[in-house]
Amino acid sequence: MSTDSDRPETTAASDAADPGPQLSDQAPILLGLAAGYIGHRCVGLGLRSGLIAELADGGPRTARELAGRRGLDPYLVWVWCRGAFAAGLVERAGDEPALAADARYELAPHMATLLLDSDSPAFLGGIFPLLEQPEVFDRFERTLATGERMWWADTSPDWIQAVSRSGRPFYTRLVPGGLAQVPGLAERLGQGGRVVDTACGTGRGLVRLATHYPQCELVGVDGDPHSIEQARAAMAQAGLAERVQLVCSPLEEFTLDQPASVVINNISMHECRDIDQVTRQVRAALDPGGWFVVSDFPFPEDEPTLRTPPGRLMSGVQVFEAQIDDQLLPRAAYDGLLDRHGFTDVDHVQLTPVHAVTWGRRAA
Ligand SMILES: C[S@@+](CC[C@H](N)C(=O)[O-])C[C@H]1O[C@@H](n2cnc3c(N)ncnc32)[C@H](O)[C@@H]1O
Repeated sequence: MSTDSDRPETTAASDAADPGPQLSDQAPILLGLAAGYIGHRCVGLGLRSGLIAELADGGPRTARELAGRRGLDPYLVWVWCRGAFAAGLVERAGDEPALAADARYELAPHMATLLLDSDSPAFLGGIFPLLEQPEVFDRFERTLATGERMWWADTSPDWIQAVSRSGRPFYTRLVPGGLAQVPGLAERLGQGGRVVDTACGTGRGLVRLATHYPQCELVGVDGDPHSIEQARAAMAQAGLAERVQLVCSPLEEFTLDQPASVVINNISMHECRDIDQVTRQVRAALDPGGWFVVSDFPFPEDEPTLRTPPGRLMSGVQVFEAQIDDQLLPRAAYDGLLDRHGFTDVDHVQLTPVHAVTWGRRAA
């Protein structure tokens, strides 16, 4: 019969028997990371050079044909093709082996949608240029010792554009599909009312809201003057200048001249420096019974989820977020936030592994 005093010895014996992972077990972890980096660069280069678009539009091509159509060097394009094949981005078309100089290549299934169709809810093509911007890893490394923070006004127009493009599928999923999952909301939006997009950025969401809810009047609020300028240009281009009011203000301070039926926030609530103060402002801006809808990245709540590709992606987003002094939040944090501020009917839905929507109603 074993006793308590036996147990440490037993554990020590089994520890000694288990030498743990071998060097040869661990090396593939690093090789996988380096290979992922190469795959990322193949995608980024393929997008910028037009090689991916060429394959999507023109169908199967040899490297020489691709190079000729884009005015590029055939040998270097062949090297890209083989790298893209290795990464699973392209497939071989025809009988020539993928490694042959005259192999024909075509995009792997659904890559055209995933990488080029910015209207698709599955669009991922914005992430690659975003992660390559200096605001992510370069600045993070430069400020690792000083920890110097920045704010949106310190970022470049290219950064704002890249954020807007990668945020687009979040709006695509939210409007109208995600909002339709909030009980009673689609009916309310169909009748009209005032909809506020807090942290509206360059205004892509406002255009989408205006298109799907023609009876509604819209307000966009953002604290970054450059983003508001871009949003104003987008409204003019979409013929919405009269229907959409734009306000440049920190969300911690924004007020409305008339109450809103719905306030949404897309991939920005975690950034607010004082989310309780922002939630107080939102509550004050809403009609009784009005909805607050938070659409955001759900930061993993456990170790296994953090190690999945979506979890790893969110840990990369954190690199930028840390520099503006915030971090992504676990989805459940928004339940607590809405409860704290007296919202009722608090609920949520997970739209994808990197996208969750949480909502509540201002008590009547
Ligand atoms: C990640 S971007 C998202 C923009 C837009 N919602 C989208 O999905 O494309 C975050 C935006 O939130 C704005 N923002 C973040 N915190 C803010 C705050 N406390 N007050 C006002 N704007 C804020 C930034 O200026 C930026 O435009």
